[in-house]
Amino acid sequence: MAARNPRKLIAGNWKMNGSRNSLAMVEALRAGAGAGGVGADLLVCPPATLIAPVAQALAGSAIAVGGQDCHALASGAYTGDLSAEMLAEAGATHVIVGHSERREHHGETDAMVRDKMRGAWRAGLVAIACVGETKAQREAGEALAVVGAQVKALLESDVGGANTAIAYEPVWAIGTGLTPTVADVAEVHRLIRATIAQAVGPETAAGVRLLYGGSVKPGNAAELMAADDVDGALVGGASLVADDFLAIARAC
Ligand code: 13P
Repeated sequence: MAARNPRKLIAGNWKMNGSRNSLAMVEALRAGAGAGGVGADLLVCPPATLIAPVAQALAGSAIAVGGQDCHALASGAYTGDLSAEMLAEAGATHVIVGHSERREHHGETDAMVRDKMRGAWRAGLVAIACVGETKAQREAGEALAVVGAQVKALLESDVGGANTAIAYEPVWAIGTGLTPTVADVAEVHRLIRATIAQAVGPETAAGVRLLYGGSVKPGNAAELMAADDVDGALVGGASLVADDFLAIARAC
């Protein structure tokens, strides 16, 4: 029987940002996290070219490294793609799948995201699957229906806390400085938890960490992370600055 994970997961999605110069920031992160005061699990997801050097820089620390996307298959004639196995070999333990920017710019569908999730599991990675409504969908009162359908499309009997986290990222909150109210976040997370529970039972669903993402900053992290059914954050812009990322982690 899986209970709620008592530790929050604070994950940084660097998106298409960073270079070898970012290793200095990773060192600062390592030093800051090692200095104490951080009660959350930390994960950084740099661009694929930086996974190996970042994993090396963080070796022996408690900070994990993840990819931002993977192909569903282990290998094959898919020029430019990377498999979950390749990410794992480079040092990743997690991979983000189905980020709204992939859905928007690369036409990723729920079915494709589900297949990527299976690929992540096959390689032994924790899949962080992203869902979230657009501004128009929220304004039309469709947020719960949209997110519920996205989550349902991803689920299968293998889902559990050891292999899956779900990130609720309202598209309109990403990179905009806008966030839903704490009550709105809690409402969507409650629905996600209930949807998972329908598929795999309440005990297993309780162990799946539900992250909130979209303009999480040091100034709003404490209230967002205290919301019901919020088990962590997926942080974009603020994850590029060690002090900000650490401040978010300390706010949990
Ligand atoms: P921001 O924190 O920059 O809004 O990005 C959120 C996000 O998309 C994380 O995956």
